[in-house]
Amino acid sequence: MSIISAEKAVEILKGGGVVALPTETVYGLAGSIQSEQALARIFEIKARPLFDPLIVHVLDIGSAKKVCAGFGELHEALAEKFWPGPLTLIGERSRDVSDLITAGQDTVAVRSPAHPKFREVLKALGCPLAAPSANRFKKTSPTKAEHVVQEFSGQVPVVDGGECEVGLESTIVKPRRTELGEIELTLYRPGVLAVSEIQAFLNARFHKTVLVKRAGSTTGEFVPGQLKEHYQPSLPLILVLKKTGDVQHEAIQFGFKKPVVLNLPSEIYLAARKLYGLLRESSLTPGADSLVLSRPEWWDDELAEALRDRLSKASTHILLS
Ligand code: TXA
Ligand code: MG
Repeated sequence: MSIISAEKAVEILKGGGVVALPTETVYGLAGSIQSEQALARIFEIKARPLFDPLIVHVLDIGSAKKVCAGFGELHEALAEKFWPGPLTLIGERSRDVSDLITAGQDTVAVRSPAHPKFREVLKALGCPLAAPSANRFKKTSPTKAEHVVQEFSGQVPVVDGGECEVGLESTIVKPRRTELGEIELTLYRPGVLAVSEIQAFLNARFHKTVLVKRAGSTTGEFVPGQLKEHYQPSLPLILVLKKTGDVQHEAIQFGFKKPVVLNLPSEIYLAARKLYGLLRESSLTPGADSLVLSRPEWWDDELAEALRDRLSKASTHILLS
């Protein structure tokens, strides 16, 4: 039986094992940051390359400071405002954090998840957990316990925490002060918590201009996790952004015979919550060979940046307008 209790999860984690836990964003594949064996096992189970670093999940700001030496006033202000919640903060690492977590970089990513079951496990264990999304590398993240069971054919024990409320992975930012004392916010991954909201908060709190940069867009810097193909469902996904009456026809033009037409909610936050489940569950339609989605109403909305990011990467074909 692969569904386990939170108590059992703590026992497994104490022994250096790996379990899947619910967070408010997506399910995570968790291992103690103190167990090299658990960390190595996470990469093995996901078939994830070692250059892709992990997020450390902590209970509070005090624990964040222990793993992140660069957790300064900007980090603290953001954590006080948005934690527990879907915001990951990047800062200079502490020396004793495993290289498996940071992929040998000078920085570490930390977040405090809101899901009560995840927090219960963190409390009982007394140690932070490294937890990437509980899916195979490049595939869609799980938002229900049954997705994890299916993803790893029941081989990974899962704590069932119901459907994830947010549904997309956390927003990842690195805040820093520039030499001129201004605030710079680098976005590594958009999330449901919009970067404009984080920017507005910092601006109001510190009375400073907040410059937003998108990692890798100008610097050519290597940004882990920004591969072109990511979040992919098991069937090819065709995203039809051009205005057309018949999306099924567009899929057939590509040579697909039985496309499943997806319907996403018209409200952004609900669409975010439902997206991954829809991709995953529609891929199981008997006889289907593809998925097709027409331009959602919210496509151009500023708050939909995370949805545009995930859908663009999850698609095998994109038809522009
Ligand atoms: O919502 C979430 O963040 C979920 C839940 C489980 O908490 N976790 C998650 O983890 O999405 P994962 O491993 O699937 O994605 C983490 C991303 C990766 O793309 C990784 O490259 C990036 O965070 N990352 C981690 N540490 C980093 C660092 N020091 N610098 C830049 N990117 C980093
Ligand atoms: Mg992931």
